[in-house]
Amino acid sequence: MTISLAIASGKGGVGKTTIAVNLAITLQRMGSRVTMMDADFGLANAHILMGQNPKITMSDVLAGENSVQDALSEGPAGIKFLSGGSGLLDMLNLDAEARYRTIRALDEIENQTDVLMVDTPAGASDSTLSFVLASDKVLVVIVGEPTSLMDAYAMIKAAHMEQQVDKFSVVVNMVRDADQGMAHFEKFRAITRRFLDVELSYAGHVPQSQALRNSIVRRSPIALHPEHTRENRAFEAIAREVLRAPFRGGQGVRFFNSDR
Ligand SMILES: Nc1ncnc2c1ncn2[C@@H]1O[C@H](COP(=O)(O)OP(=O)(O)OP(=O)(O)O)[C@@H](O)[C@H]1O
Ligand SMILES: [Mg+2]
Repeated sequence: MTISLAIASGKGGVGKTTIAVNLAITLQRMGSRVTMMDADFGLANAHILMGQNPKITMSDVLAGENSVQDALSEGPAGIKFLSGGSGLLDMLNLDAEARYRTIRALDEIENQTDVLMVDTPAGASDSTLSFVLASDKVLVVIVGEPTSLMDAYAMIKAAHMEQQVDKFSVVVNMVRDADQGMAHFEKFRAITRRFLDVELSYAGHVPQSQALRNSIVRRSPIALHPEHTRENRAFEAIAREVLRAPFRGGQGVRFFNSDR
């Protein structure tokens, strides 16, 4: 059984790609076969964080020139990676048919993958939403700023209205310590509960970290450097929570034709 997991936020720049890459590596280390897809088609940058430069990307797959198998590249720690492709303005706004084709194209790799991690673009565009809606589990990244909470709320509301998605996991990024992470989560859950009938579960926090920032500049994910124990423990805790998190409810087209 392949689990699909979307990483989403609403607001940009809160750390989705950083978390997706490090979580993918951590899950692979813990024994899952992970494929990560950069769904930020057009402005893809996950490959940069991993120090990769794949020749074939999802845009070639969508153009009908290559299969998903062709586009799979070997990422750090043995993860498999599907790049979104860069500088392709026509990829920024996939129409509904192209989005459906993208989701179905991944069926090809179901047998090679235990976890499909989907790094989504910022904003509640139709593209972002359709990849969120196609996933079994949704991990929402927030930071402790009102704009992040508002945008994450809007994203959750859109997913709930559109297809009755009722379960989300939340990770709080750039925190001082575990207590601060929990406090931001509780506040966000309280706001959400007031207006929406959805269940939020706490997946954990990622500390504000200069080492994490440096790892991005060096294009070598911190999950490859176990000496950074504070950051790596945080990613391990999130990985365990994500595996344990419930599947989302609701309807709609899913990755791997799952009807969970
Ligand atoms: N825990 C952290 N500590 C310090 N810096 C961080 C942390 N998480 C992310 N950053 C920094 O924040 C910036 C944005 O991160 P990232 O690109 O992962 O965000 P994003 O949500 O994927 O952005 P976009 O919406 O543009 O895709 C990066 O420069 C990264 O170095
Ligand atoms: Mg990103």
